[in-house]
Amino acid sequence: MFEIIRRDGLARIGKLETPHGQLETPALLPVVNPRLVTVPPRELHDVFGFQALITNSYIIRNDPKLNARAKEVGLHEMLDFPGTIMTDSGTFQSHMYGEVEVKNEDIINFQREIGTDIGTVLDIFTEPDWSKEKTAHAVDVTMDRTIEAADLKGKMLLAGVVQGSVFEDLREDCARRLALVDVDVHPIGGVVPLMEQYRFAELADVIVASKKGLDPSRPVHLFGAGHPMVFALAALLGCDMFDSASYAKFARDDRFMFPEGTASLADMKGIHCHCPACQSHSYQEIAAMKPAERAALIARHNLWVSLEEIQRVKRAILEGDLWELVERRCRAHPALLSALRHLAKHQEYLERFEPLSRDNSLLYTGPETLSRPIFLRYERRFFERYKYPDTEVMVAFEEAGKPYARHYQKEMADVMESCDAHFFVASPIGAVPIELDEMYPVAQSLFPEPPDLQTKERIREQMEHLSHEHPYALGVAWDGQATIDTLMMMCQKKPSFDIDLARVRAVCDYQFGKGAADLLLDGKVAIKKSETTGKIRNVLVDGEHILSMRANDGFFTLRPPGAMRLKKGFDAPKLRVTVKDDSIPFNREGKNVFNAFVTECDPEIRPMDEVMVVDQKDDLVALGRAILTREEMFSFRTGIAVKVREGIKL
Ligand code: GUN
Ligand code: ZN
Repeated sequence: MFEIIRRDGLARIGKLETPHGQLETPALLPVVNPRLVTVPPRELHDVFGFQALITNSYIIRNDPKLNARAKEVGLHEMLDFPGTIMTDSGTFQSHMYGEVEVKNEDIINFQREIGTDIGTVLDIFTEPDWSKEKTAHAVDVTMDRTIEAADLKGKMLLAGVVQGSVFEDLREDCARRLALVDVDVHPIGGVVPLMEQYRFAELADVIVASKKGLDPSRPVHLFGAGHPMVFALAALLGCDMFDSASYAKFARDDRFMFPEGTASLADMKGIHCHCPACQSHSYQEIAAMKPAERAALIARHNLWVSLEEIQRVKRAILEGDLWELVERRCRAHPALLSALRHLAKHQEYLERFEPLSRDNSLLYTGPETLSRPIFLRYERRFFERYKYPDTEVMVAFEEAGKPYARHYQKEMADVMESCDAHFFVASPIGAVPIELDEMYPVAQSLFPEPPDLQTKERIREQMEHLSHEHPYALGVAWDGQATIDTLMMMCQKKPSFDIDLARVRAVCDYQFGKGAADLLLDGKVAIKKSETTGKIRNVLVDGEHILSMRANDGFFTLRPPGAMRLKKGFDAPKLRVTVKDDSIPFNREGKNVFNAFVTECDPEIRPMDEVMVVDQKDDLVALGRAILTREEMFSFRTGIAVKVREGIKL
């Protein structure tokens, strides 16, 4: 069973139950070659703290001594490793050396007999240069073998490998078929050559295509990904597990791994590393070591650095800034940067998992930042949901200080003295109506000054788009007093723009959907502000408290009367998570909604969205924030679907 603890987009921190304890993901499983142990498994566990390792059942089976011992005492005692042991099946040997002499059925039975925790199907390694026909056939064979293995697995967890070479449709189809088979972990296979050849853009395509088809409640393992350079990117795309044979292989060639890339001892002028392996040794000492001793040291260095990078990725998921980490890491190598740029192609898919907001500010790291899914979301929601205020003219400001309305307070007051005007700001986020200036990510984002060419181009495009869309009689770019002089001559109507009301309306539509403001604000509206910050706190309509505005991200939390209005105006399942009867008494008490109890959910819900929990008759049960998307709520059998803030008592 796999449970999600935290998520940031497709990336997640999870817990996988295995016969030998819980494995926290993202996890790195060092590869242990039972015939050539570089770092003893006991040390991996006790000193490094690895909760899991991966070894090869094919090698063990073919070695008479290992075979006998594994059968006699079991894999855990043989390797002296108390944690989770995953075994591979011999597929990689077929990739390296051609045909292997074992049947799927036999290797599955063998893995089960020696007590492996996670066994692997004898899949077919689909090489990147294969034809589509050959690949499709290999996928079919892999599927047959996976179905066969699922019947034989017993209590062992089973890894069903996604194959399909670089064909995205075959990958997605294979993943979809695998999702229907009773397996527990999904490695993405056949990707080692892509990583070895630094074909990271294709690797990203393969991961995304696989993720699209897989069941989200099963952990995804990127087979053969052992370089810390790729962990952040792979985690961002939803990979939960990695394995590394590279730590030992690289060490034998005197190569040090770092998140920034690989360095050969011969090229290094010093070690400059504070990992426990390097710490007490000088460059000269390491260079003078005997090869085996040096390889042992470098292998440990490679493991420490890899482990540290996994921890760094975890921290980023917890703190919600994995995009920033990925963008920085992808600057380690142009091929990684190509992959990062290539992600623009997957913006639409990634947007479905992008949280509504996050705790800390979005930081620009380079022009690729503009292709993050949050920008697509802003653009879409603005052009689809935003309702323009009914003013005569529109004045467009350049982006200067934030929040915009405070920065341009005087200019706005001067214009509104004589004109019926509304205001936009040309920002890297897009064309931003002045009243959306406190909403994530408009306020909570930082860009460098001056903007780079791509950012300027994006701003220009967005404003161009706006200029074709807007309904104002007149639109002008702010040019100081000259603008005021012009407007004074042309304006006919009296000022009407009320920024507080406009803010409430615009955030409602952006957050809850087109028309939400009309539903929520039908009546006499009263807006209460904080005396200290001047920011909107509460919105009352006809004396009822319908919304509260959060200071940190500028979005609303729904109050029960507000929810009733939305529920009346928007048909199910919009903004709703429907739960089974047995969950209702708990949710009414303010307890969270668990996945197992969800029967229906709005497919448009994004992580951290404000949602209404309703019963089968569509009566309101609770209010809270969605943690998962609809598909995820349906696929997970454990874990929280909605974090309930307020139960609705009968
Ligand atoms: N190790 C690295 N790649 C693969 C793969 O595609 N299949 C299996 N079973 N093991 C691998
Ligand atoms: Zn080191």
